[in-house]
Amino acid sequence: MTNELPRIIQGGMGVGVSGWRLANAVGSRGQLGVVSGVALDVIHARRLADGDQGGHLRRAYAEFPNQKIVADVLDRYYLPDGRQPDEPYRTVPKLNADPPANLIGLTVLANFAEIRLAKSGHTGPAGVNYLTKVQLPTPYAILGAVLGGADFIIMGAGIPIDIPPMIRGLAAGEPIRQRLDVIDAESDIFVDFDPRSVVPDGWPRTRPKFLAIISSNTLALFLSRNPNNRPDGFVVERPIAGGHNAPPRGKGKFDELGQPEYGPRDEVDLAKLQEVGLPFWLAGGSGRPGLLRQALDSGAAGVQVGTAFAFCQESDIESGLKQDVIDKALADSATVFTDPLASPSGYPFKVVEMSGTISEEAVAEDRTRVCDLGFLRSTYQSPDGTLGYRCAAEPRNAYVRKGGDVEDTDSRRCLCNGLFATVDLPQVRKGGLEPPLVTSGDDINTVIRALCVDSGSYSAADVIEYLEA
Ligand SMILES: Cc1cc2nc3c(=O)[nH]c(=O)nc-3n(C[C@H](O)[C@H](O)[C@H](O)COP(=O)(O)O)c2cc1C
Repeated sequence: MTNELPRIIQGGMGVGVSGWRLANAVGSRGQLGVVSGVALDVIHARRLADGDQGGHLRRAYAEFPNQKIVADVLDRYYLPDGRQPDEPYRTVPKLNADPPANLIGLTVLANFAEIRLAKSGHTGPAGVNYLTKVQLPTPYAILGAVLGGADFIIMGAGIPIDIPPMIRGLAAGEPIRQRLDVIDAESDIFVDFDPRSVVPDGWPRTRPKFLAIISSNTLALFLSRNPNNRPDGFVVERPIAGGHNAPPRGKGKFDELGQPEYGPRDEVDLAKLQEVGLPFWLAGGSGRPGLLRQALDSGAAGVQVGTAFAFCQESDIESGLKQDVIDKALADSATVFTDPLASPSGYPFKVVEMSGTISEEAVAEDRTRVCDLGFLRSTYQSPDGTLGYRCAAEPRNAYVRKGGDVEDTDSRRCLCNGLFATVDLPQVRKGGLEPPLVTSGDDINTVIRALCVDSGSYSAADVIEYLEA
């Protein structure tokens, strides 16, 4: 990769929507393709259980510098003939603050492989996206990305102040210490991790650049104050972007539908941001022709686009569901609800209203609450000092037993299981398959109608061409 900055970033889209195929298609055109790094351990375990179609994962694993880990992962999860459709996926244990070596190995390997595949066959860049809030896998995931040769790591959904030194340490092959966010902790709680426990030699590695996703000038200033914690740039995400959104500043106001209301205080002052002196990309509603030029004119290095890429041929959304969304958008009737409660993370989350998905109250209520993926759990400390983990979308009595407030559980949706179903990796339950959940930006109808001019589908290359027009 050259040192030139990309003008177009294909935003990371979890869970598994932006996999290596999409990132590769974007990178091969010289722009920045970003894989979603969230929950890659389970994504790979499930793809292996489905027989590793095309052998891509095993092809990438063959390059991994610790083949003992590869052998262990294949032994645990790979089914050469694939699983029977009615056979549940094998459970991957949930990560905690003291995970076993095999779980660390799976996380490192999956992140490594996803980046190798995103970069294979071209010289363009590849990046990976993590959610700051999903803290427990972060050191292992970042190590995998470093080993895979990621050019960029991009993180939002929280305040990623500790991430730049963590990336530097891991790329240098030095032990790092992660401070955990723990509810009711009496003092700071840390996780220690030595990357050489996974890969003993070959250090140092190239340090990926780090971009922090921000929605306010205050956060940009805070993150850039200390050179030790300063990112290499920012993605400025506006509230119409797909996925999670930052909550509005000030006292919560809602529109007549119950969506959070954003106002002038939620706009980032780009002139002020320029004074910070770091490159930035504009995200949220930038997926239309002319907006890249406009962003460059406002001092940005380019744009980050999600929605337009989410429904292109190379994204990993299950093909039938993808087509249903496209058809709805073509009829100008896709509706996106910014749900203030659905996500157990506490951030507003955009939900596309689609029948048969958990956007429908009846489908959501019909689902038996179960928490077997657990990526959005919060860590808490019990009075006896032990750490526990709880999610507001787990069974209510379990949440309350763990010290959670029952009111927090109202209207929460299991994003983990819903989003896995969206990328065709639904868990099999006694009553059938887990139902999906689709997210997108507010301007989905406009974007898809513009891209599907001649047919009912489009490619990542079409999106890039369209953005550059
Ligand atoms: C399907 C989908 C999933 C997303 N998932 C994530 C995610 O896991 N992490 C993240 O930081 N941003 C996520 N985003 C936001 C995108 O990376 C990007 O910033 C945003 O989509 C840009 O706005 P746009 O949707 O208006 O193009 C997601 C967006 C979409 C559409």
